Amino acid sequence: MVTEKRTVLLVGGAGYVGSVITGHLLRKGWHVRCLDQLIYKNESCAWPYLSVPQYEFMQGDIRDPRFANKALKGVDDVVILAGLVGDPITSKYPDESHAINRNGVASFIDAMQHHPVDRLIFVSTCSNYGLVEVDTAVDENYPLAPLSLYAKHKVEMEQKILGLKGKAGFHPTVLRFATAFGLSSRMRFDLTVNEFVRELHLGKELLVFDPNTWRPYCHVRDFARAIEEVLRAPTSKVAFEVFNVGCEENNFTKLMVVEEIMRHIPRSKVTYQERGADPRNYRVNFDKIRRVLNFTPEISVQQGISEILAALSQGLFDHVEEQRHFFGNYEIFLPTALIPDLKRAG
Ligand SMILES: NC(=O)c1ccc[n+]([C@@H]2O[C@H](COP(=O)([O-])OP(=O)(O)OC[C@H]3O[C@@H](n4cnc5c(N)ncnc54)[C@H](O)[C@@H]3O)[C@@H](O)[C@H]2O)c1
Repeated sequence: MVTEKRTVLLVGGAGYVGSVITGHLLRKGWHVRCLDQLIYKNESCAWPYLSVPQYEFMQGDIRDPRFANKALKGVDDVVILAGLVGDPITSKYPDESHAINRNGVASFIDAMQHHPVDRLIFVSTCSNYGLVEVDTAVDENYPLAPLSLYAKHKVEMEQKILGLKGKAGFHPTVLRFATAFGLSSRMRFDLTVNEFVRELHLGKELLVFDPNTWRPYCHVRDFARAIEEVLRAPTSKVAFEVFNVGCEENNFTKLMVVEEIMRHIPRSKVTYQERGADPRNYRVNFDKIRRVLNFTPEISVQQGISEILAALSQGLFDHVEEQRHFFGNYEIFLPTALIPDLKRAG
C-alpha cells in the first residue's frame, strides 16, 4: 500500500491498459483520477470504479486546456496513455492522430509545467524499434526506426519529454511497452494474442501474415505492476530514464503464438502468408527494468491464452461483433465540436 495519500492522474485511463491500471492502483491505495474522451464509446470502463470513493472520472479531451488544467489540479503524478493507439487506427485517421498523439500530448505536457506535478510516466511502445535487422534483442539504446505514424509520434513525444531535462519541474520516465495481451474491461480483440485466440476459438480460419516475425508481449496486469514500480521508485532511478517493459520469455513469433493456441484447439485451420502490410520485426531486451527496478512480468503468453479462452468459453464475449467499435481500435467517435480544432491543430 502507498503510505501517504497520493493522487495519480491517468490520462486515457478508460482504455484497454488504463482500465487495468486503475483497478490495480486503487487496490494498492492510490487515489485515481481519470481523464478520458471515451473515443470508442468506452464509458462502461469507468462503471466498475464509480462506487469507489478514491476514484474520479472526468470526460474530456487532452487537447482542451480547460480539461487539462482541471484534471491536473491537485494531482501528484501523471500517466499519459491517451491517444489513437496502433498502426491501423493512426493510418485510418492521420489528421486526428497528428492533432491528438502529437499536438495534444505536447500541449498537455506544456500544461503540466504550470502545476506542481511530481512525476510523469509517458507510455510509449517497443514499436519504435521498427524493423530490427540484427539477430539480437535490442535494448533502450538501440537506434529507433519508427515505421508507422503511430510510432513516429511516440518517438517525437519521447524526445520532447527527455529534452525537458533541467527545464521541467517534474520527473519524467518513458516506458516502452511490449504488445499487450490479456483480459480487460475494455477488451481489445485487435491485438495479436487476443485476436488469434478469439478467431480460433470461434473456429474461423486464421490468416497469419509473416509468421516468423518476432514481437515482445506483456500481460496488461504486468503493465499495471510496472506503473506501480515506477511510481514507487526513487526519482534518482527513474527520472529521465527510458525502460522497455516486458520480458525475454514473452518474445514470440506469430507462429509460436499460433502453436501455443493450437495446444488447446488442435484442429484449427491456419494459413500463412509472407509480406503482409506490417513489416515490424523486433526482439527486445528487458535487462534494464529488471536490473534497476527489479521488475519482471509474472504472466506468460501461455497463461494469457488460457485466461482468454476461459472467458470466451464462458460466453463473456459473445456479442463482440454487435459492438465492434468497443472491442478494438477500428473507428473513433469524437464530438463534432472538436473536429474544427483538428484541422487547425493538424
Ligand atoms: N495495447 C498495446 O498493445 C500497447 C502496446 C504498447 C504501448 N501501448 C500504449 O499504451 C497506452 C494505452 O493503450 P491501450 O491499448 O489501452 O489503448 P486504448 O485505445 O484502449 O486506450 C486509449 C484511451 O485514450 C483515450 N483517448 C484517446 N484520445 C483521447 C483524447 N484526445 N483525450 C482524452 N482521451 C483520449 C481513449 O478514449 C481510450 O480510452 C497507449 O499510450 C499505447 O500507445 C499499448
